[in-house]
Amino acid sequence: MPELRETAACLVAQPKGILAADESIATMSKRLQEAGVAASDTTRRDYRELLLTTPKLGTWIAGIIWCDETLRQRLADGTPFPEACADRGIHPGIKVDTGVVPLAFAGGAVVTQGLDGLRNRLTEYRQMGATFAKWRAVLDPGNLPPRAVHANAHALACYAASCQEAGIVPIVEPEVLMDGAHGIDLCQVVTTSALTAVFDELHAMGVDPSGIVLKPNMVIAGTAHQDYTSAAQVAEATVAVLRACVPGAVPGIAFLSGGQSNDQACANLTAINQVAAGSGGVPWRLTFSFGRALVSDALHTWHGDVGAVEAAQQALAANCARAAAASAAGGGAPRDHLLAGATSGARATPGTRNMEAVGA
Ligand code: 13P
Repeated sequence: MPELRETAACLVAQPKGILAADESIATMSKRLQEAGVAASDTTRRDYRELLLTTPKLGTWIAGIIWCDETLRQRLADGTPFPEACADRGIHPGIKVDTGVVPLAFAGGAVVTQGLDGLRNRLTEYRQMGATFAKWRAVLDPGNLPPRAVHANAHALACYAASCQEAGIVPIVEPEVLMDGAHGIDLCQVVTTSALTAVFDELHAMGVDPSGIVLKPNMVIAGTAHQDYTSAAQVAEATVAVLRACVPGAVPGIAFLSGGQSNDQACANLTAINQVAAGSGGVPWRLTFSFGRALVSDALHTWHGDVGAVEAAQQALAANCARAAAASAAGGGAPRDHLLAGATSGARATPGTRNMEAVGA
């Protein structure tokens, strides 16, 4: 599937990343209201237009994830959002999951829905210009029975296969939440088990790993944990998990920010790239697909004021530039070198896949 591989590689091309602006109508309305803006389809559109029309956005951003409402909207000048993205050299993407529901016999753990009708929706989104999609599984480390890991991994794989069949690159997002008082060790265990299940299911469903982008959490302590996790700790744990779980054929890993500030998320991404480069390199690009860590400053600077659009766009541009610099820290992944000999199913475990790939 050469087109999928090309799009996936483009979405993570150095030094770019992906902007997540796909909040549901309910979440976006809440965030607007918190910023003092009355929520409506027009203000949601105005805010997304502010983001997209930020000067030079395509310098740092390869793709933007929208929700269904935005993909169908037009800028004030009448240009449809997908076309306005393409005009700026930015891939338009679409969130296709429909949120979470409690999973049976899982003690309150949830599973993400959205497979019903997905095939037809993907066909329509492709016709509208979307080149990639997103599906987010929500995993609470404080309440995660094995069947919730399995059900979410299976749904992600069914979604990813449907996307590839439709010519759309799937972003595969199993998010281990930062909410809670858990330590980094539990996050590491849970993220390992989630990613292992996800790649097993992707393989079982026939998904080509070279035509996806993985969007995981960083391995980090919960927000209510007693100790602060340093960037060095986050980086060591995150790179170890990725090496153990992610096939070398995956072109890129684009982290979510999960509620971290731009400073924290960028410091951690910088350290992750430095650790990866310092330990012989990794076969994937390690970049960002942040939501809040990129856009929160812009939203609060704007707060619905036409006169503040330029300042808001400058805030977004500064956050994107920092994230792009973090994604290129450590010199970026020497991917071609490491990929020589990598096969699609193999994981990048040190001593096995990576070492074979570098000729050891
Ligand atoms: P955050 O970076 O705000 O976590 O959002 C990323 C995202 O797309 C969550 O699904």
